[in-house]
Amino acid sequence: MEKTIAQIEKEALKELEAAPDSESIKAISARYLGRKGAVTRYLRNISTLSLELRPEAGEKANKTKKTLDALFKKALNKLESAHIETDDRIDVSLPGRAVRQGSLHPITQITQQICDIFIRLGFDVAEGPEVETDYYNFEALNIPKNHPARDMQDTFYISNNIVLRTHTSPTQPRIMEKQKPPVRIIAPGKVYRCDSDLTHTPMFHQVEGLLVDKNVSFGDLKGVLTTFVHQMFDKETGLRFRPSFFPFTEPSAEVDIRCVICKGDGCRVCSKTGWLEVLGAGMVHPAVFENVGYDTTRYTGFAFGMGVERIAMLKYGIDDIRKYFENDLRFLRQF
Ligand code: FA5
Repeated sequence: MEKTIAQIEKEALKELEAAPDSESIKAISARYLGRKGAVTRYLRNISTLSLELRPEAGEKANKTKKTLDALFKKALNKLESAHIETDDRIDVSLPGRAVRQGSLHPITQITQQICDIFIRLGFDVAEGPEVETDYYNFEALNIPKNHPARDMQDTFYISNNIVLRTHTSPTQPRIMEKQKPPVRIIAPGKVYRCDSDLTHTPMFHQVEGLLVDKNVSFGDLKGVLTTFVHQMFDKETGLRFRPSFFPFTEPSAEVDIRCVICKGDGCRVCSKTGWLEVLGAGMVHPAVFENVGYDTTRYTGFAFGMGVERIAMLKYGIDDIRKYFENDLRFLRQF
């Protein structure tokens, strides 16, 4: 054999000492310990030595192989951890990365403000399901199948008897079935209709109100709603009650608020009327009381359902309801 194993080891160590990076260490390792490497070849050639020399030469060569292998690995590890340390070093002089903070959607904010006002007036907050049965959404509210009033509230049908609720009014019979009078609740939530224009979206929010007790009159309804409007906007904000029709209230009214966008002069939002319709209301129809087993000779009550987006449009002076749901952050960040 041309070189002794000691010479080979010495040369390998010299090369390792001079290796600048992990790539060169890997190359040196291949040159000495690889399949055709110097140490491997030496081991293979031991069979050419005389019988007496073989054991000692084999032992020395295996020792060299182990030593070099351990040294190469150690050198590689050292370089790699140094690399990680350099890469992950924290530069404390860099400006920090700001954590982006979200905020409540304007409709959520307005819903909370509406609820706060009614909670202060003594109402409890209730909830009902968005996917509703035909019975609670229509029948229990005195809107039988094929009643023309269903036309105004066309919706998305899950099946023949299951709909996406068109209003929050189904919470009325749901609550009354479970609770004896007096009842004083509001029920906020999402509702759905086949509607879409400047003041209508297919999904919108309502807050239902229901008060049932002895001797409740239309005057109480007017008082509560006027107090609400004055607290939500200000004492100067005008509101008007227009006679209307809902199968579940009698008498019924629609309530408009003076358009804050044009101050009553008439604009595209209020369809040049100077008023924007924000809610429907009325005295609970005896047929609804009968459906839930309330004694119509002892109890009367009022109910209302207001459109949250409409209130929010007036509050913020927004001229297109669809802006609330376009997810444009430039719009949403203003609230
Ligand atoms: C109702 O939904 C009745 N359930 C309200 C009610 C409750 C009457 C209790 C009597 C007693 P109406 O369809 O008018 O009524 O809707 C109520 C309010 O929801 C409207 O005044 C309007 O502010 C809002 N609204 C109606 N449709 C839409 C829509 N597509 N997009 C946004 N807001 C709407």
